[in-house]
Amino acid sequence: MQIAVVGSGTMGHGIAEVAAMAGMEVKLIDISWDILNKAKERMYDSLKRLHERGTIKETPDSVLSRVEMSTSYEIARQSDFAIEAVPEILDLKRKVFQELDKVVPKDSILATNTSSIPISDIGEITSRKERVIGMHFFNPPPLMKLVEVIPSKYTDPDVTNFTVDLAKKMGKTPVRLRVEVPGFVSNRIFLRLLQEACREVESREATVEEVDSSARNKLKLPMGVFELADYVGLDVVVDLWKVIVERGGTDVKCSSYKEKVERKELGVKSGKGFYAYPSPGKYSKVQLPPESKVPPERIISLAVNEGAWLIENNIVNAQEIDTVMKLGFNFPKGLLEMADEIGLDKILNQLREISDMGYQAYLPNPVLVKMVSSGEIGVRSGKGFYVYK
Ligand code: CAA
Repeated sequence: MQIAVVGSGTMGHGIAEVAAMAGMEVKLIDISWDILNKAKERMYDSLKRLHERGTIKETPDSVLSRVEMSTSYEIARQSDFAIEAVPEILDLKRKVFQELDKVVPKDSILATNTSSIPISDIGEITSRKERVIGMHFFNPPPLMKLVEVIPSKYTDPDVTNFTVDLAKKMGKTPVRLRVEVPGFVSNRIFLRLLQEACREVESREATVEEVDSSARNKLKLPMGVFELADYVGLDVVVDLWKVIVERGGTDVKCSSYKEKVERKELGVKSGKGFYAYPSPGKYSKVQLPPESKVPPERIISLAVNEGAWLIENNIVNAQEIDTVMKLGFNFPKGLLEMADEIGLDKILNQLREISDMGYQAYLPNPVLVKMVSSGEIGVRSGKGFYVYK
């Protein structure tokens, strides 16, 4: 199996590494040798860590012997599958897809690792829109087990099945969306966490550190919400927010992320965002106060409401949402499992309190309202998103 990866940045080099670790032949394409050489160093560094920890038996050099790099698309002439991972600019993605469409064999599949741009919009530019699909990895790809598989309205079901199998061959757990929605499952929920975190800070309910302390110390998330935004890249956060809201997702007034991007403080990649990092591109866990007054149910309330929306619209079910959050964001428990433990009545109270302040996005979803009004409030009542014996 030969895989072409276009774009060797944060995600692209990680996807290439994952494919090579799975024994696949990889063709990695980018616009300059400087960028490609940097990507090779990053793959080597990551593979070395995985080898030293015993996660992989093969040496980094042996894995990397399967990766060929080039600034030309010509090396993808024989590829069975291509994955694009260039910046989130629709015109740029379309250009990449036009190039791939010319070079890659006609029966091969073209996938995009976009975080939020509709797959249909990208596929339409090619002569094979039924062979174009979303294959969404999580940062860092070598560690995160999830791959979201997103068929567009044109995608052939065989292409979806092939992509699901490919994700498994790469050692990942695929979650397949039934219908394409902007931001997919992961980033629709991530956006809601970002929005609530921002609302709390901008309305002076809490500080950035207090929100993050509650997320890490009470909810036991691996990173605080602002810390995760820094890790993902604040430019990426602003882009995915814009794409989802422009396509119908409800907005919440917030300027914090945009202001950081305007000041070129992009998070880990630039060395500074909401927090300071040792050097550009180098993450180290941020220091947070051990105590926080922020109720954990407040942090996840809007995200749980989004989960209810995804269920209502039959995009995915509760287990699939929780798989996304556990394997894509390393949550210790699923989002909806947490909601069941906290109590859906408490989540609903948070949503009502905040929507009463005038925030449209917090209007409780009918699925949630119905569950609570019929006494399904989670673990305490024996039934919520899940059934408890
Ligand atoms: N390759 C190999 N190993 C790596 C690595 C990489 N790229 N990155 C980190 N590691 C290793 C470290 O070397 C370390 O190994 P040891 O335990 O052997 O020392 C281990 O992973 C833990 O790393 P750290 O000590 O640096 O920090 P940590 O304990 O906080 O773990 C983390 C880091 C795994 C990233 C963890 O914080 C985490 O799970 N965070 C959440 C990440 C997340 O949510 N990602 C999804 C973002 S959303 C997205 O990507 C999609 C989108 O469209 C926006």
